[in-house]
Amino acid sequence: MKTEQYLQYCICTFVAIHTLRYDTAITPAISFTTGELDGEQFVHYDSNITEVIPKTEWIKKISAVRPEYWKREREWMWRELEDLQHLLNLAVELFNHTKGVHTLQRVYGCELDDDGTIRGYDQFGYDGEDFISLNLTTGTWTAAKPQAEIMTKWDPDGRYARDRKYYLEKECIELLTQYMSYRREALERKVRPEASLFQNHSSSPEVVCHATGFFPKALNISWQKDGEEVHEDVELRETLPNQDGSFQKRSVLIVTPEALQKHTYTCVIQHSSSEKELVLPVSERRILRGRRNTFL
Ligand SMILES: *[C@@H]1O[C@H](CO)[C@@H](O)[C@H](O)[C@H]1NC(C)=O
Ligand SMILES: *[C@@H]1O[C@H](CO)[C@@H](O)[C@H](O)[C@H]1NC(C)=O
Repeated sequence: MKTEQYLQYCICTFVAIHTLRYDTAITPAISFTTGELDGEQFVHYDSNITEVIPKTEWIKKISAVRPEYWKREREWMWRELEDLQHLLNLAVELFNHTKGVHTLQRVYGCELDDDGTIRGYDQFGYDGEDFISLNLTTGTWTAAKPQAEIMTKWDPDGRYARDRKYYLEKECIELLTQYMSYRREALERKVRPEASLFQNHSSSPEVVCHATGFFPKALNISWQKDGEEVHEDVELRETLPNQDGSFQKRSVLIVTPEALQKHTYTCVIQHSSSEKELVLPVSERRILRGRRNTFL
């Protein structure tokens, strides 16, 4: 329902909304937290692995530049799950739900419009039903009768609720802005491809033109014969992701040894990281014959 409301708002006023959102669930089998920026998951943490798993390139960059950030996130997520486990225990006790499987979910996050408007929310569910939510105006928990009793045990002086208000209105928005800029930087980066030309052995009918380590993904590989573009006998392979977030791509030219002797072939690579295209003469290809790594 909420998403639709925002969508409508967005269409009516053309204000871009950015969101930072965390989802947490406590179940007997597993407890986990996921973080999303503008709907894209960037972290995962769960009680079985007790590690924060980065899910995007830009968040990996932050952890590389600021290792203490990662350590803090891990401690923080671990402590939060402990706190929520305590809350779940209180709920189970109060509802006399000593038997059966019970779950506690939490959703919290903040939103920032381009005009500077901010919103925040922190909501709990118990066994799939609304349980407690934070009133951001007052900085207090909103809870129906039995839940209110739980909250007086869990957050007796209301300090946690006030901390949450501060977090959602200040820290969460700061994080959101910071994450957005890291993501923008990561998406706008340009890394040049490393290119090579090879043939498995000198009598192989296939010459491979290979580009790797480039970013962004779009890259064009073409072949020329005596300066004219070749379209036949070319097998263009899918672009594949590398471990480090860059990409690789290859194109195979099917050609006879005689044609290689008679004509001048080149592989041409175009990528946004450079205005000049990379031109590799087939005459300078590597021949991999006799080497074990012919899987290349
Ligand atoms: C839970 O059990 C206690 C003792 O049996 C009872 O007094 C209380 O009303 C029960 N609570 C609920 C929510 O059913
Ligand atoms: C939050 O509290 C204020 C003041 O009591 C109230 O007017 C408002 O309706 C509450 N908001 C929600 C979402 O419950």
